[in-house]
Amino acid sequence: MNKTFYITTPIYYVNDIPHIGHAYTTIACDVMSRYMRMRGFDTHFLTGTDEHGQKIQAAAEAKGMTPQELVDKIHVNFKELWKVLNISNDDFIRTTEPRHVRVVQAMFKKLMDQGDIYKGSYEGWYCVPCETYVSESGMGENRTCPDCGRALTMMREESYFFRASKYVPQLIEHYEKNLQGVMPRIRYNEIMSFLRGEVRDQSVSRTTLKWGIPIPGDEKHVVYVWFDALINYATAVGYLDDPETFRKYWPVVRHMVGKDIIRFHCIIWPLMLLALGINVPVSVVAHGWWTVDGEKMSKSKGNVVDPFKMAELYGADAFRYFLLREVPFGSDGDFSEAALVGRINSDLANDLGNLLNRTLQMIVSYAGGAVPQGGENDPLDAKVRALGEATLGLVDKAMETFSYDEALKHIWAFIGRGNKYIDETLPWKLHKEGQKEGQEERLDAVLHTLYEVLRLSALLVAPYIPESAEKLWKQLGLPGSPLTERLDGFRWGGGAGTKVAKAEVLFPRIDLEQWKKERKKERDARTGKLEHGTEPEHEPQIGIEGFRSVEMRVAQILKAEEIPKSKKLYKLEVDLGYEKRTICAGIKPFFKPEELTGKRVVVVANLKPAKLAGVESNGMVLAASMKDAAGTAESLALIAPASDVPLGSRVS
Ligand code: MSP
Repeated sequence: MNKTFYITTPIYYVNDIPHIGHAYTTIACDVMSRYMRMRGFDTHFLTGTDEHGQKIQAAAEAKGMTPQELVDKIHVNFKELWKVLNISNDDFIRTTEPRHVRVVQAMFKKLMDQGDIYKGSYEGWYCVPCETYVSESGMGENRTCPDCGRALTMMREESYFFRASKYVPQLIEHYEKNLQGVMPRIRYNEIMSFLRGEVRDQSVSRTTLKWGIPIPGDEKHVVYVWFDALINYATAVGYLDDPETFRKYWPVVRHMVGKDIIRFHCIIWPLMLLALGINVPVSVVAHGWWTVDGEKMSKSKGNVVDPFKMAELYGADAFRYFLLREVPFGSDGDFSEAALVGRINSDLANDLGNLLNRTLQMIVSYAGGAVPQGGENDPLDAKVRALGEATLGLVDKAMETFSYDEALKHIWAFIGRGNKYIDETLPWKLHKEGQKEGQEERLDAVLHTLYEVLRLSALLVAPYIPESAEKLWKQLGLPGSPLTERLDGFRWGGGAGTKVAKAEVLFPRIDLEQWKKERKKERDARTGKLEHGTEPEHEPQIGIEGFRSVEMRVAQILKAEEIPKSKKLYKLEVDLGYEKRTICAGIKPFFKPEELTGKRVVVVANLKPAKLAGVESNGMVLAASMKDAAGTAESLALIAPASDVPLGSRVS
């Protein structure tokens, strides 16, 4: 029987555009899938999108769309990104698909029929305007909502509960016997200590939300989004519709996830599976989180790494290579374009690219373009060959524990050995001497060895940098693709006689000076300094409702006062016609207080109050600004009505 392997990414929420975090998990799964295929495994690789729940409903409302319209539109971004990044997934599941809805309902019903889902009531502090429960630890002062600041109400609603607690001892026993059930070890320990604490029964339905899968027979409830989402992994391999496929892939399933969602994957999901009488996953593999230039990634900081852009600027392969090489899998990592460029120049252009170029040129110049036969028993050649053969084993061992960076270190040590071998054998010298002293045979053996180093390297790097590996393969004059070769079928010496193709640059070196200039130009554009013809960064489109929800009105500044603690802020007293209020504005570097008194401006009147430098601000004054490369405002213009209108007039 064929060896099988099944790997999954989390399914991504479609309320957001894809970023480096999504790309990272998916690339890691792709590399593993490609590797396992090259090891002869019948591999199934699943990714997809998580399309139900409060977040999606809220995002749709904010955009003035129905949730279905939103998910139909946004999920495509993910599919497109996977194309750009050369992701070889075998399936893409959406939780709104009928095949999934059926499975969720069937599983829910089965658990209900066997008494593992029961009806109870859920009690907690609830924010009515935000429509969410807030935990005791997450609430603001005096039981207020951490998001909108309004008072929370104690709510009790009917809910279905999954009897998670019943299966905890069984899961603990399973993990005690299967240490690879959660990887790496630090996450295993975290899960075990959580499991040994109190695991409560889980609320698995909502009545406060419409956008979800209805509960069979009780349609005022929808299934809680996580209960729905986790099931995707079983849906996709035919839990309900295709038992044969399910039997083939389910027993070998591995889930890859970020460290933030391991409780769902290592506790709730396996408990659901145990209740359903299905095997728990072989492993849940958790990776760390990326920061960007040392900072947490966030939309408000504007430092979200766009994978489309990285692929466009540096190529998908370089981006893939960097993400997996830069940090040990499981640890957190820091992304910086400068580090990416560094790796492109040193590892890809220099180490791999140069080895290829030098070797091909020498095979053409010294051997007429065909790979010579190997020589006999030279100890140095034997050493290089032994390292190559050992590398296959070392890489395999690293991949078993998802240690991508280790695998790459071994591969690059071998590539480095190839470059060193050129320095040790000095083929150009052999060529010169060959004419006088009969060194031709030695030169042939050297070229043969170098070619084999490259042929094996092409196979080893193929899962990581598939596009470049195929180019490399072609230049080596080999037919087909390295991706469809078997790693365990590699035989040293098999390349003799091959006619090499034309050498081309695999990874162009990036000129650092030029690169710095271009990045600066781009930063300027992003921060507001627009050159003619440059496209600024845009926000996603909003519906008219989204726009209308911002209440802008004409106001007059009555007084501007300094705030002792703040270099940038003025405390403004403004008149809206129907009321006077205080607004803090970061405009001090640009105006003297007397220049502001009496000015008419436009303010956002329905902004939530916020404390700025100790002063409560009730709105925002609108201004247009030009920023420098560091993002600091260089000039600023207040926005005012072009002709007189009564104070309080609405701006629309
Ligand atoms: N929809 C759920 C998963 C359901 S799986 C049954 C979800 N989606 S998500 O889109 O919010 O996040 C998906 C993944 O992105 C998570 O594994 C998360 O760890 C990962 N990342 C989000 N930001 C990240 C970084 N900054 N760095 C690395 N990964 C990060 O959660």
